[in-house]
Amino acid sequence: MAAGSTGRKIDKMIHLLVKNAMVVVPGPKIASEIGVTRSAVWSWVRELREVGVEIKGHHATGYQLLKMPDVLVPSLIQAELGENEIGHSIIHHFRAVSTNTAALNLAQQGAEHGTVVVAEEQTAGRGRLGRTWYSEKSSGIYGSVILRPPFSPTAAPILTLMAGVATQHALSSVTGLGVDIRWPNDLLVNGKKVCGILTEMNAELGRLHAVVLGIGINVNHSEMPAELKPFATSLRIESQRTWSRVQIFIALLKELERFYHLLLEKGSAAIAEHWAAASTYANGKRIRIMTAEAESIATTAGVDPSGALRVRYDDGHEETLVAGEVGEVK
Ligand code: BTN
Repeated sequence: MAAGSTGRKIDKMIHLLVKNAMVVVPGPKIASEIGVTRSAVWSWVRELREVGVEIKGHHATGYQLLKMPDVLVPSLIQAELGENEIGHSIIHHFRAVSTNTAALNLAQQGAEHGTVVVAEEQTAGRGRLGRTWYSEKSSGIYGSVILRPPFSPTAAPILTLMAGVATQHALSSVTGLGVDIRWPNDLLVNGKKVCGILTEMNAELGRLHAVVLGIGINVNHSEMPAELKPFATSLRIESQRTWSRVQIFIALLKELERFYHLLLEKGSAAIAEHWAAASTYANGKRIRIMTAEAESIATTAGVDPSGALRVRYDDGHEETLVAGEVGEVK
């Protein structure tokens, strides 16, 4: 079991309680069915209560599940994934430092293609360009997917776009909200960021061992912290209702599977085409290009099959951006 992860046994206990919902299940029965001590059962009950699972009772009388909130329990998610390779193994943490760090470590130890790490909360969630990612407990989705693509490291940008397109499809199909993609893969609702993706990899000498797609989605945050409010929002804030994180996560894993196969079968041009169809940033958008040294203004002129963004400056010369940060000029 990965350090700190919830593991199969607690997953089994949740299943047992869900299966016997509204019935008092004696502590010793839970302990013997899943093969742990009664004190382990007791400490898991306390942990589950902390994330909002309502369980009545204690070890002397037995436990009764009253309310199962929106916890990203692997067995509930996997039951909906069918043949999906992405998500066939899901490692759940109540609290992780960063799911990307955990996934990179697992990849290093040989974790299979499609392994997913997910957390209810991150204590040091990481964003692009050395930023932190605000990871409020049980409000967002903080997940990392390990891929082992048969590509060279130069293909990383198209995997980043692929993740953006898949997430855009998942969020717009579940919520019906208009979701835009800002190059390379920030997802925006009403011009504010609801999701960020951090792609990291494990590579050497032209060989890609593993790619980790780290996806953070602001789902049910009722309010964003003051310093983020001007740029960031949540699905709940934009739609005035809460959403099932479990449902969104299932849709996300299915869309990642679909677009990953499209990339393998049809190549990067197919992903670039989907990206351009889903993003107002693909063509004719006035943007600010921010680099460490300077800021400049240009107009977008399409995405290359490699995932690079073509831009045209006002003096007519063109460039392709392979990395960096852009913003809309309003
Ligand atoms: C960005 O800056 O836009 C990228 C944010 C990526 C955040 C996600 S949350 C899950 C995964 N674990 C991390 O530490 N970061 C990514």
